[in-house]
Amino acid sequence: MRKILVVNSKGGCGKTTLATNLAVALAARGEDVALADADRQKSSLSWIKRRPKTMTPIEGLNWTKEDRIGGKDKSLDAIVIDGPGGLRSELAKNLIAEASDIIVPVLASAFDWDATLKFLDGISDIKRVRKGKADIFVVANRINKRSTQVADLERTFAEKGYPLLARISDRVLYARHAAAGSGIFDYSDSKSHEIRGQWHPLLQAVDS
Ligand SMILES: Nc1ncnc2c1ncn2[C@@H]1O[C@H](COP(=O)(O)OP(=O)(O)OP(=O)(O)O)[C@@H](O)[C@H]1O
Ligand SMILES: [Mg+2]
Repeated sequence: MRKILVVNSKGGCGKTTLATNLAVALAARGEDVALADADRQKSSLSWIKRRPKTMTPIEGLNWTKEDRIGGKDKSLDAIVIDGPGGLRSELAKNLIAEASDIIVPVLASAFDWDATLKFLDGISDIKRVRKGKADIFVVANRINKRSTQVADLERTFAEKGYPLLARISDRVLYARHAAAGSGIFDYSDSKSHEIRGQWHPLLQAVDS
């Protein structure tokens, strides 16, 4: 059973988008997956409520309070966790203490970088991560092909010891799926084929 935590203290970087699509990707290949929402806004739980009954089921878990964490672990293949905003709360510390993989989304906007680098240093300092029991993966989100900022992002993060694992394009499709309770791995149309390819490094990483 893996626990994949999607987290960053920076708001709006794509935590819920990554968590929901990752849960769909794992469910689509037959895994028994739950999506645990540890964010007070409960966006992931709202997304599950919108999810059509005809689609591969994803169980929703409310992990917004510390005493709700855990319990269901053994019966599942994976729990994807939509993380809370900060690192300081006990909830965040407990989640990091249990996670097998930690995914940190970052936007191409330079305004996000300092806060995210500070956040990455903070989690790297946590004993479990230092001991190599949890891996950190940085994912660039909302990348625009025409923008040169991704090269700067790539270089800045690599220099600090956090190379980018994957690059996810900015596509309206993600907002559409968010509204419909679905994800890009729910459909195997050719249009989302290229987009799905961008997720492969991330899927491979959480598999190993
Ligand atoms: N790759 C993408 N392409 C297009 N839109 C995106 C992408 N990723 C996220 N978005 C949009 O950006 C907004 C913020 O994304 P999201 O809600 O996933 O971030 P978050 O980190 O969970 O935010 P919060 O801190 O509020 O929980 C949403 O409207 C979402 O649809
Ligand atoms: Mg969110």
